[in-house]
Amino acid sequence: MRKRIILFCTVLTFAALAISGAIALFAVEQRYLKEARSFLIGSMEAVMSSGDSAVSFDTIAREKAGALKNGVRITFIDLDGVVLGDSEADYRTMPDHAGRAEVAEALRTGFGEEIRHSDTVGVDLLYVAKKYGDVIARFAMPLKNEQIFAADILPSIIIASILSLIAAVIAVNLLMKRILKPFYELQKVLSEVLGGKRTKIPESEYAELSPVVEGLNEMTGRIDTYVKSIRQQTEKIDNIIRYMQEGMILLDEDLHVLLSNEAAHELFGLESDLNGKNFLHLVRNKEVISSLHAAVREQKPIVLDLKKKLSEMRYLRIFISPVQKSAGAIMLVSDITELKRAENVRREFTANVSHELKTPLTTIKGFAELMSEGMVKDERSINKYAMLIRFEVERLINLINDILRIAELEETSIPVNLEEVDLKEVAEDVRSLLTEEASKRGIRIKLQGESVKISAFRDSIKQLILNLVDNAIKYNRDKGTVDITVGRKGGKAFIAVEDTGIGIPKEHQQRIFERFYRVDKARSKKTGGTGLGLSIVKHIAGLYKGEIKLTSEIEEGTKFTILFPIAH
Ligand SMILES: Nc1ncnc2c1ncn2[C@@H]1O[C@H](COP(=O)(O)OP(=O)(O)OP(=O)(O)O)[C@@H](O)[C@H]1O
Ligand SMILES: [Mg+2]
Repeated sequence: MRKRIILFCTVLTFAALAISGAIALFAVEQRYLKEARSFLIGSMEAVMSSGDSAVSFDTIAREKAGALKNGVRITFIDLDGVVLGDSEADYRTMPDHAGRAEVAEALRTGFGEEIRHSDTVGVDLLYVAKKYGDVIARFAMPLKNEQIFAADILPSIIIASILSLIAAVIAVNLLMKRILKPFYELQKVLSEVLGGKRTKIPESEYAELSPVVEGLNEMTGRIDTYVKSIRQQTEKIDNIIRYMQEGMILLDEDLHVLLSNEAAHELFGLESDLNGKNFLHLVRNKEVISSLHAAVREQKPIVLDLKKKLSEMRYLRIFISPVQKSAGAIMLVSDITELKRAENVRREFTANVSHELKTPLTTIKGFAELMSEGMVKDERSINKYAMLIRFEVERLINLINDILRIAELEETSIPVNLEEVDLKEVAEDVRSLLTEEASKRGIRIKLQGESVKISAFRDSIKQLILNLVDNAIKYNRDKGTVDITVGRKGGKAFIAVEDTGIGIPKEHQQRIFERFYRVDKARSKKTGGTGLGLSIVKHIAGLYKGEIKLTSEIEEGTKFTILFPIAH
């Protein structure tokens, strides 16, 4: 822009100089013409006033013209146009001059003049004619032509041009600097804003720049807002990916890792910086790799279960989905170890149930066969077998009841609409229910402590206490005691059931809460136990955030304590 302005100014200066040169030329020419005319008229007046009537017109013309120099030509003509004398030619051979413009005008008005080009001399001539009585004097002189004038003034015009051009360039330069200064300042500030050193462009001292500054400020403000919202969005997505429980790995078309989260690193047992690394080198598992290839090749999602040994054996479920745009894939990995474990427990449970059902049924079948085939004859034996069958049937009914209870408990996950249950009241109920049974073996059930309320279902708490007291009787010695204590301890409600029985060996103490687990199978069977009682206790305690404690000494006794949060 600067160059353009300088060029424009130069052209303008030249044009101005050319115009002024032409005007100067014209003015000089006009002035010269005026001088030439007054010189001719002056000379003419001088010649005519010193008139000498004795001498011929021709002689006067020749003498006076010679004296005047400057190439002046003098001609005398009478009123009829006949030439009377001439300083240069033979007046006798000259034609009639009345038709010459200056002469004709002088004849008419007394004075005339004209500039005419003379082909003989090749220059312009100025003719002046004036009437003196009965003669017309005509003076003429050659005029300098235009080229001569131009040549005269050209050097000064050139010098003036060069000087004014230099002056113009300097002036334009200075002016440009002054004009462009705010632009350069703006440029500097803008680069500072872009570089993050400033947040706003200050107001310009030039009013003309204000809208530009305002516009730029508005624009940077808007860009700032956009950038912020984009940053927030990415942060949000980042957080989701970082804190989600499932592992996530995004792969490009060459199966290089583009993105991965902490969960994925943990589940695959990988280091934390995977970006750019090839997944095939990281997880050397044939199944995973071939599934990945298949998902990408066939462009369809694949689900894969995988057993992986980390600190312990874990089961992973991997969802592989192709990403259409980038031709890569996304993998979501979840730990399904718990799921698998629950599945196993269920499977085992079914197997156990079938087994537990089969044993008494086989016994019953055996006795029934004996009886039907008439092998049992006397009434005493019939009675004995009938009793045995009844015992097994009761066992079966107990078992089925327990199984139904467990199924029921598993369905209630988060209990709602709980009632306030007084532990002491329920314990009293249980005691009266079991007293008769206990007394058969001379066992006494004692209850002590204060009333305390918890949030629960009364029935399930009764089940819990019933199971504990039932065990305390079953695994007690004859004439032993069962101590039930209810009260508060450490801000919690508790119920403790203590017996004087056979005790539970240390190595079994953890496992007795498992379904169907019995320390001494033979003894349990004799007492009709199925091994489900304590698993029901554990389940119910868990439902109300209860905590189970167990202390036991072989041949001395066992104490179960359950702590519950107190109801408010
Ligand atoms: N108070 C106790 N003293 C000694 N051993 C016990 C006591 N309570 C439980 N056990 C042992 O724990 C095992 C599991 O008890 P649990 O109540 O679950 O089953 P069970 O009593 O055999 O059968 P169920 O209660 O279903 O009729 C019992 O078989 C027994 O060996
Ligand atoms: Mg039991």
